[in-house]
Amino acid sequence: MENNPEILLAEAGRLLGEAESEADIEAVRIRYLGKKGELTAILRSMGSLDPEERKRLGAEANRVRDAIGALISEKKAERAASENDRRFAAERIDVTEPGRAYRLGQRHPITQTIDEISEIFASMGYSITEGPEVETVFHNFDALNAAPNHPSRDLSDTFYITENTLLRTQTSPVQVRTILSKEPPLKVISPGRCFRTDTPDATHSPMFHQVEGLLVDEGVTMADLKGTLDHFAKRMFGADVKTKFRPHFFPFTEPSAEMDMSCFACGGSGCRVCKGSGWIEILGCGMVHPNVLKVGAIDTERYTGFAFGMGVERIAMLKHGIEDIRLFYENDVRFLGQFA
Ligand code: DAH
Repeated sequence: MENNPEILLAEAGRLLGEAESEADIEAVRIRYLGKKGELTAILRSMGSLDPEERKRLGAEANRVRDAIGALISEKKAERAASENDRRFAAERIDVTEPGRAYRLGQRHPITQTIDEISEIFASMGYSITEGPEVETVFHNFDALNAAPNHPSRDLSDTFYITENTLLRTQTSPVQVRTILSKEPPLKVISPGRCFRTDTPDATHSPMFHQVEGLLVDEGVTMADLKGTLDHFAKRMFGADVKTKFRPHFFPFTEPSAEMDMSCFACGGSGCRVCKGSGWIEILGCGMVHPNVLKVGAIDTERYTGFAFGMGVERIAMLKHGIEDIRLFYENDVRFLGQFA
């Protein structure tokens, strides 16, 4: 054991210089100033010295004890200060920093298109109703006057869940639900999802959206249908568009037609949008078949009606110049963000 206090002081100073933690500092205190510490030992051993020497060493040891104590306090204060600095730096808040901007989402372009269509018909007094996506064969086909061998009933076109339930292939079953649950006059549109076993490509998707329309009242004629749908086309695509009705077949309407509108992009002279024809097919429609009205026990002598159905994706694609239907379902914000 070293019994020169000055040397102990130098040693303690060096160890404190290297000390990193509170525990390191405490270890230095115990080593020199503790009950069994080195300096304490010197002070204890002084009894055997002659008085002159005891006095000198005692004074020196006391001075060194105070000096080591002072070094320890100093080191502790230094550590506390640097610990505070570190915490202040880590927890620093810049109150002048601008707030974080939250990016608001927006309605999906399909929802926007449905809302736009709905608003136009609502302004003509139609109410909006919805039907289930999982339907019965009765509502989707039978009650809609579809022949037992109608090709759309085929397994290769329709997602069947059981023999009697399926994913609706069209929104037309909502016509049946409306007729079964309400008395005429009826004036409803019904937007929603439909499903067919189509392989996805630029213009097909196994899930897509339609908006169905149904009006049943006394004295309704094809002229009402044409006026209503012509008005719709003008509100949706521009006051200049013209419409024409081409005979077609649907099981649930008679007569049936498809409505074409003059191309809103070229005005009818022929362009890419209308594939050169000047006309764009926009929806299916017709006078409600008496067999459908009879499902709801509606007096077909008193009441007539018209119905229509349109593809929402197709309308959105035309309006926005979108060339691939699959873009609607990829949920890429770079695409969706363009319809803010
Ligand atoms: N449901 C038809 C389809 O999916 C569209 C349709 C055509 C609906 C004529 C109608 C209608 O209500 O009258 O192709």
